[in-house]
Amino acid sequence: MNKEIKTNEIQIGLLGCGVIGTQVATELLNGNLDCKLAGKNRIKLKKILVNDLSKSRDNSIPESLFTNSPDEILLDPDIDIIIEVMGGEKPAYDYVIKAIQNGKHLVTANKELIAKHGPQIFGLAHEKKVQIKLDATVGGGIPIINTIMDSLKANQITEVVGILNGTTNYILSEMKNSKKTLEAALKEAQDKGYAESDPTNDLEGIDAKYKTSILASLAFHQYIAPDQVPSHGIKSISPADFHFAEELGFSIKLLGLAKQFEDGHISTSVYPSLVAADQPLARIDGVLNAVEVRGDLIRELMLVGPGAGPKPTSSAILGDLLSLIKNISSDFPLPYKVLPANARSKAEESSSDEKYRFYTRLRVNDKVGVIRDLGIILAKHQISLESISQKAHTPDSSWEKGGEATLIFLTHSIGEDKLKIALDEIKQLDPVNEICCILRVFE
Ligand code: HSE
Repeated sequence: MNKEIKTNEIQIGLLGCGVIGTQVATELLNGNLDCKLAGKNRIKLKKILVNDLSKSRDNSIPESLFTNSPDEILLDPDIDIIIEVMGGEKPAYDYVIKAIQNGKHLVTANKELIAKHGPQIFGLAHEKKVQIKLDATVGGGIPIINTIMDSLKANQITEVVGILNGTTNYILSEMKNSKKTLEAALKEAQDKGYAESDPTNDLEGIDAKYKTSILASLAFHQYIAPDQVPSHGIKSISPADFHFAEELGFSIKLLGLAKQFEDGHISTSVYPSLVAADQPLARIDGVLNAVEVRGDLIRELMLVGPGAGPKPTSSAILGDLLSLIKNISSDFPLPYKVLPANARSKAEESSSDEKYRFYTRLRVNDKVGVIRDLGIILAKHQISLESISQKAHTPDSSWEKGGEATLIFLTHSIGEDKLKIALDEIKQLDPVNEICCILRVFE
């Protein structure tokens, strides 16, 4: 027997009251959601967990709702559903586990929590017969999780690829459209509230890694841990790369990619990628997110929308809440298998088998024979070039330094490992000063 609501008043405990929590609390308190439950139930926000009771907050939330004692929520037998918007791994994990152990259903927006601990959380929820809803963990207001888990259930999904991080998409769009440096675009993103004061998780692809891990696990019904998703950030990208990308007919996007091959192999990655300018993903600019899904019945589907921010994220959280209440006594099926630790490498191994075209930018001394020496090394490793270009210095360019030249090459399809071995040798060449940036071509 699933845990059912004891009365027709559904009591909610909210964990966290930052920008998202405040928006969720406000929506819960204004009573607008009750009519969406077709008159059967009434939603009551009972308590909100915060760290610091003395902090000044939104006046529309009664002070009596706040507590800094987790157990006041986690052990309250009258609270039916927990909404967790604290973010981060700890203490969210401990709170969520305790809540589920006490029979509470969960709506969460916490991607790190689900990416790292999905198996434990889903397993316990299954055992305790409570529901978990997680649409807000990926893509903010875009209903991509529920689309994969419900609407596309009949499909054999083969690929999920997307722009999963709004902060980096804003920065890359500004670098492309307004010719800004990464530093200037980041500063602007921070001033506009699109980037955090510590932007590490966004810039280094960690946020996108969590989201890719969740999407891959749900799409392929097999847990793919975040540490199985090889990830690269955008810090090495400079205005020069946009100059060359445009010449070659590409846009630059940070893509989270999850693919399953016919033999069952799964490949996942987060990679700054060259996307052909005429592809839909190339045109998704600013803080928007977009996700493409390929499946045997749907063929191809793309969802685009606001990937972050209090209102879009609340849309996902509250939609999940309403759907949870509607299906409160349904079974909670495990969304994926968890393979034993020694079988986990299947996803890791596969990425090295794959072949892509790669773009590489180098700083070299402008001397006779550089391209010849580079060509000899590439040929030795059977790496064929599609194009190579060297830019003569111009006094007005921000990305060129005196006495040096910028060299870029685009390979035909090769395995990344092969390119890395060749680049290690190229790095040793006397005139090569730096291998600045490697981008993968998204086909
Ligand atoms: N920092 C994230 C982003 C927020 O920029 O997309 C939403 O997960």
